[in-house]
Amino acid sequence: MTDTNIPCHIAIILDGNGRWAKKRGLPRTAGHARGAETFRKIATYCKNIGVEYLTVYAFSSENWKRPPEEVKTIMKLLDNYLHEAIDTMERDHIKMKVLGDVEGLSPELQALVAKTDEISTRYDGFQANICLNYGGRAEIVNAAKRYAEDLASGKVTELDEKIFGNYMYSAEIPDPDLLIRPGGEQRISNFLLWQCAYSEFYFTDILWPDFTPDELDKAIAEFNRRDRRFGGAK
Ligand code: IPE
Ligand code: IPE
Ligand code: MG
Repeated sequence: MTDTNIPCHIAIILDGNGRWAKKRGLPRTAGHARGAETFRKIATYCKNIGVEYLTVYAFSSENWKRPPEEVKTIMKLLDNYLHEAIDTMERDHIKMKVLGDVEGLSPELQALVAKTDEISTRYDGFQANICLNYGGRAEIVNAAKRYAEDLASGKVTELDEKIFGNYMYSAEIPDPDLLIRPGGEQRISNFLLWQCAYSEFYFTDILWPDFTPDELDKAIAEFNRRDRRFGGAK
């Protein structure tokens, strides 16, 4: 991919795991397991081609509505995944951040999140962000509450977009340049509502477990054909 502008920040809604499994007569949870493998491959590919931030939507604040057995399996997979990710972070010097309402996760997952935060302080470079128990509206409300506390205590006096952005889970992370949603749905499902103001959207029918580096290249090629004006004139 010569002369290609690689997006600094790619965000992906990891959708289609359940349908991938159903098509094969497997339980939905088999799709989640395969989806976790796909994430590993795509994260490595992103790092190799020079993407600086990869943010993935893995479990939304609305996904608790799923059958308890499915939620339980997803939580177990996340636990396994974070254990493994901690080893990878230390081996490859990767930063990883969990974005979302961490307090709503199990104590075991919270401890793993704290560990990934601690390891991330040691490294610079590629950063993976995993959105867990994440909702875009909840993030904005949480930021407003924390801002109000700081205002009341005199810690802040001003308010503008930059200052407010620092109260988001995504503080210090640049906005996504490219948002990809596999799985065929063309909606945002409460993902990064604040941060996607000027992101380029790319939708594909490919189900997330079938997503490959080639598919990512296609999304990046399409991104390179877009004319980003940010409200300005051409
Ligand atoms: C995405 O895949 C994973 C989560 C939301 C946890 P889905 O489970 O939503 O898969 P589909 O959309 O039902 O195929
Ligand atoms: C969005 O997918 C959330 C994640 C991928 C984590 P959903 O499958 O939950 O979204 P809807 O229900 O199709 O909008
Ligand atoms: Mg879905």
